[in-house]
Amino acid sequence: MSTTKLGFDEFDENLRPAPEVVEFEETANRMVSRRGFLSGGAAVGATAFVMGSTTLAAGKALAAGEHKMSRLAFEMVKANAEDTITLPAGYKWEVLASWGEPLFSNAPEFDGTTGGTGASQELAFGDHNDGMALFVHNGRQIMCINNEYTNLNTLHANREGGVPTTADDIRKSKAAHGVSIVEVARRGGKWGIVKDSEYNRRITADTEMDITGPARGHDLLKTKADPQGVVAKGTWNNCGNGQTPWGTYLTCEENFNGYFSSSDKNLVINDDLKRYGIGHDDWGYKWAMADDRMDIAKEPNEPNRFGYIVEIDPLNPSSRPKKRTALGRFKHENAEVEIAANGHVVVYLGDDERGEFLYRFVSENKYVAGGDNSELLASGTLYVAKFHDNNKGEWLALTPKTTGMTEAEIAIHTRQAASKVGATTMDRPEWVASNPSKCEVYCSLTNNKNRGVKPNAGGDATPAGGPNPRVKNNFGQIVRWRPMNEDHTATQFSWDLFVLAGNPAVYDDANAGSKNVNKDNMFNSPDGLKFDQNGLLWIQTDGNYSNAKGFAGQGNNQMLVGDPETGEIKRFLVGPKECEITGSAWSADRTTMFVGVQHPGEDGNSRWPFNSVPRSSVIAISREDGGIIG
Ligand code: FEO
Ligand code: CA
Ligand code: CA
Repeated sequence: MSTTKLGFDEFDENLRPAPEVVEFEETANRMVSRRGFLSGGAAVGATAFVMGSTTLAAGKALAAGEHKMSRLAFEMVKANAEDTITLPAGYKWEVLASWGEPLFSNAPEFDGTTGGTGASQELAFGDHNDGMALFVHNGRQIMCINNEYTNLNTLHANREGGVPTTADDIRKSKAAHGVSIVEVARRGGKWGIVKDSEYNRRITADTEMDITGPARGHDLLKTKADPQGVVAKGTWNNCGNGQTPWGTYLTCEENFNGYFSSSDKNLVINDDLKRYGIGHDDWGYKWAMADDRMDIAKEPNEPNRFGYIVEIDPLNPSSRPKKRTALGRFKHENAEVEIAANGHVVVYLGDDERGEFLYRFVSENKYVAGGDNSELLASGTLYVAKFHDNNKGEWLALTPKTTGMTEAEIAIHTRQAASKVGATTMDRPEWVASNPSKCEVYCSLTNNKNRGVKPNAGGDATPAGGPNPRVKNNFGQIVRWRPMNEDHTATQFSWDLFVLAGNPAVYDDANAGSKNVNKDNMFNSPDGLKFDQNGLLWIQTDGNYSNAKGFAGQGNNQMLVGDPETGEIKRFLVGPKECEITGSAWSADRTTMFVGVQHPGEDGNSRWPFNSVPRSSVIAISREDGGIIG
């Protein structure tokens, strides 16, 4: 993703440049070569790909002479740079919902020349849709869809340079963020939002929600508006998502820091704020212009109330969302929920920042099918992953004993707690997805140009190795792990890489990627991950779409499907210009797959989807023969 000019990570780094450390680079490159991890290189037999054998033996490719019927039964789409959606033959798409589409009949129609008003946006589908989930209730289909952020030039199309100018511009911007809850239906053969459904609801940056868990009421959460530290106002930068077996939606606050600024440019930014990328300047949203709580000179604790997982009951439109501080505070990507064999709820969580960590939450109490599970996410233990080079790993508990911090402090300053126990710095953990066919979990490590170059914001070293094998990692990889004894609450796991993305058309070194990447299926920056009911892994990208230099031939951002058993990967979809593909869900009958297209034309070069102002949209993909998809 990027804002108008700088990517989020670049913006953070400009605010707090870290010292350059280059000593790891040569070592890492030698290691990658030594292990023979070269494009289509050393012939590697099937046994070498067995889990836990070789760190870099990604993708259990079939051995020579071994032939298996592919489970990916579609004709692969070619990479391209078109301003449309490209699908395999036999598949079609339509728009389900777009930014600015009214959810209620008393709301005005979308106005692309102004981008709408605060009042219109509060009654309309939010901007930059991301993670999503579908809930079925009495035969009706209700979707929760995150609205992560906005492109200032399109949201404020009526303002010079897209700069918000009035209080109503800020109201509009806050309402474009959050979550859109909509009933959807296919009527007359066409998917769309059910206008005026009693389930339709907008949750925005101003919606009141309860703070639960260890941080509730802590001094660091107290503000003038909330002296008890128990009620937060709003949620924003909602990236990936989760869905619980008890019917709630989890929305994940990611780059929450970019909305805070300081009216006092001499204000000392302490280390705790710096670790989360909070500084004197916001990323252009200018919310402090109309809301004092966004000014850290006036309300220094407000940032501590963001960066959490928020639980929402989509079937009860009057319910209050709950911030789940027990699941930690960081730049949350998504929240993958599993019920372990022993009944505890396990939630896998990535912190998407260069050199930050991968987490696991284990609930204190157990899930009871049909019982009251509504407070299972209020208490439990957080763990952080430590990967060893021998394909083994362990979950390190974050407790008062291991960190010297209180439970509330661990919940609020989770990154600092994880640094204290020596967790493995990762290449930007994005979505986590758990394989329904076996006890095995996948995580996208999207890219990390700082790997082996400089430490993370907490000063932790980022040497190349383990699941982050490449220095200056431009392409990303997907790591997977198997909990010991098929127990998601086990301390130990084994791991390997499912794929190391790369460009074998340009490189013949480690940047060519793993053996299951070739000139026809190559991509960069895996991000969204989701398993379908057949145990196939859908992979979405948010990467470099320049289609040039190291990325030549990779085209626009895309969606691919991987088979965990064979390592085979095929491209299923290519998105329009300057978009990312993110978020997915299936209709109740699984004949439709919903997929998110975020920020088409973020640099001004798209007219997708209506040959007009570019609009982030959710599309509905189906087969022409009406068959099941995924
Ligand atoms: Fe919102 Fe890490 O992507
Ligand atoms: Ca993402
Ligand atoms: Ca991303």
